[in-house]
Amino acid sequence: MTNTDQAEMLDLDAEVLAEHTAAITAWLPVAAPPRRIVDLGAGTGAGTFALLTHFPTAEVIAVDASTEHLARLWEKALAAGVDDRVRTVVADLDDAWPDLDRPDLVWASASLHHMADPVRTLRQVHSVLAPGGLLAVVELAGLPRFLPALDGLEDRCHAASHHRHASHVPHRGADWGPMLVDAGFRVDGQRTITVHIEQSRSPAVGRYALTTLRRLRTAVADIISADDLAALDELLADDNLLRRDDLAVHTERTVWAAVRS
Ligand SMILES: C[S@@+](CC[C@H](N)C(=O)[O-])C[C@H]1O[C@@H](n2cnc3c(N)ncnc32)[C@H](O)[C@@H]1O
Repeated sequence: MTNTDQAEMLDLDAEVLAEHTAAITAWLPVAAPPRRIVDLGAGTGAGTFALLTHFPTAEVIAVDASTEHLARLWEKALAAGVDDRVRTVVADLDDAWPDLDRPDLVWASASLHHMADPVRTLRQVHSVLAPGGLLAVVELAGLPRFLPALDGLEDRCHAASHHRHASHVPHRGADWGPMLVDAGFRVDGQRTITVHIEQSRSPAVGRYALTTLRRLRTAVADIISADDLAALDELLADDNLLRRDDLAVHTERTVWAAVRS
């Protein structure tokens, strides 16, 4: 999957799940409205813009290894007229960290499981946060599902992807509570948001399904059966998915709220 494909998927994820992301920002147990926020692994800004909306006096530093994602985020900040409240920083968080200006809230959504050593990253977050500051870890167990049962094809592709990711990305779907405690945090809350959008005719859901299933295909093409690969290719061909009116979105997000005590 190219950076552009991932960016498109992240934008669609942000659009389709906007109200759920807003619900998570509203749930965060902050002692006072944060003034300095860091969005770690910000991507194209799903969290950055939700946080700017929910905390209207805050500034956000969006950090990501991808120059392309951050350029997209910056274009959106300009278009929304919030560029005076956003700073983008290109950095590989597995290497030396940039100066992050003692944030009182760090938000890390679907990014920590990509880090080479997530507990080391959590310790780094602990050391940059202001005393009493909050880390919000938002993670998902896997990619969303879109299709009706359909002969179990989507289930089999997810099972194959899960098997592959178990060795490549072992912390995806992990319980972050014990790791947060190991890194010195006090976990003040945990919440799972379950998303079920049924029989959607929204064009965004169709495009979200298409980009996500394309990504799934890339992950599993060489390990699923020839019949399943042919069925998946048929689904992805000729905008077939975009014409369907029976797509759903089923996914889950879990958030851990951890305080630097
Ligand atoms: C699944 S995306 C999530 C993006 C965004 N937080 C969201 O919720 O839409 C993961 C992001 O983490 C970034 N990332 C992965 N490894 C990284 C690293 N070592 N340093 C900085 N960013 C990283 C990727 O470039 C990508 O933008």
